[in-house]
Amino acid sequence: MSVSHPLKVLVVFGTRPEAIKLFPVVAALKADARFDCRVCVSAQHRGMLDQVLEIAGIVPDHDLDVMKPDQSLDALTAVLLTGLGRVMDAEKPDRVMVQGDTATAMCGALAAYYRKIPVDHVEAGLRSGNIYHPWPEEVNRKIIGSMASLHFAPTDVSREALLRENVDPARVHVTGNTVIDALHWVSARIAENPDMASGLAVVEARFAGKRIIGVTSHRRENFGDGMENIAEAIRRLAARPDVAVVFPVHLNPNVRKVMNTALAGLDNVALLEPLDYPHFARLLGIAEIMLTDSGGVQEEAPALGKPVLVMRETTERPEGVAAGTARLVGTDVTRIVTEIFTLLDDKAAYESMARAHNPFGDGTSARQIVELLANEIGQEA
Ligand code: UD1
Ligand code: UDP
Repeated sequence: MSVSHPLKVLVVFGTRPEAIKLFPVVAALKADARFDCRVCVSAQHRGMLDQVLEIAGIVPDHDLDVMKPDQSLDALTAVLLTGLGRVMDAEKPDRVMVQGDTATAMCGALAAYYRKIPVDHVEAGLRSGNIYHPWPEEVNRKIIGSMASLHFAPTDVSREALLRENVDPARVHVTGNTVIDALHWVSARIAENPDMASGLAVVEARFAGKRIIGVTSHRRENFGDGMENIAEAIRRLAARPDVAVVFPVHLNPNVRKVMNTALAGLDNVALLEPLDYPHFARLLGIAEIMLTDSGGVQEEAPALGKPVLVMRETTERPEGVAAGTARLVGTDVTRIVTEIFTLLDDKAAYESMARAHNPFGDGTSARQIVELLANEIGQEA
């Protein structure tokens, strides 16, 4: 197919990680005359989304503002599907782009499919093989995969997963993960202007001479006992006088309640508000070890050669584990504490993990995605 007018691409996202992973693609589309890029945010996240929009300089064309405190998956899904459908009816895009596996991504793909608009999926083909880990993301991304026109898989592992599901190989492209583009971009901005990430100075001074463990946690399948265990493990880690824990706490009330109750006021623990991306990049730099259940942090830490202990039983990102930079530790208190102490006390164990390895691409993913999209519609540069 060859078209003479710019192709209208509606990019849909709603949470912090989608915004981080799509801002490089939005920038590449907007800089390219072959495309008319429109941005619709659901604002499934509000504050944590806005932090990224501001840093990336994105002003959305549509903002559904759907976030409600602690809303159920049903309520969220209903409001997303109808709201995103309305935007598509108004915009009439040629294609819709979604990223990853959130409720916004799944509903964006479904609303587009209901209108027979082709869907392009960034970060396609991640599979843990367990529909409850992570929950509900494993099913969200399978639903998107069943409808997508182009699948932008970050690695060969994710490509193979799609081929096992009988996706046409010609529709699957290995592009790396756009999170590496985002990380390169933010690192370059910080190098130009260190003030962008200087807000951690107070914490850095407070913990001078200590060994910093960076923590993030928010997975639904860890709510309840898992979160209680994570808090207890942090208490035990922070009992060591040479250790300090820096923990920007996710705004989900199910996380905040537990962490604020268990950890507030501890000498060696800094509970922070969510950090904007430059400050989180700074935390990745100053931490000796990252302890997380996040998806994105599993990709960023190996790129920086930072050992990352993953508080999950399975991962859809086995590349970091295969490379030796990531290790699954679940949410058992003793296991988390033992693994961290081993890394702190055994130099060889630490060095065997702390090797920069980047299975997730070279920072050119957004450019590759835009070219593949242009090829798809037969437009030459
Ligand atoms: C969502 C995604 C998850 C992704 C995570 C990234 C779904 C089902 N879950 O999980 O895949 O890994 O984002 O962080 O799509 N809240 C705020 N302010 C914010 C953000 C959240 O107050 O800026 C609170 C609200 O009370 C909100 C709650 O957190 O209702 C949960 O947000 P939600 O987007 O439903 O789920 P997450 O756990 O953040
Ligand atoms: N992140 C951030 N500030 C924080 C914590 C994380 O900017 O305080 C970034 C992090 O660098 C990564 C992304 O948010 O790119 C991960 O988001 P999250 O863990 O919320 O979601 P997931 O990746 O698990 O879907």
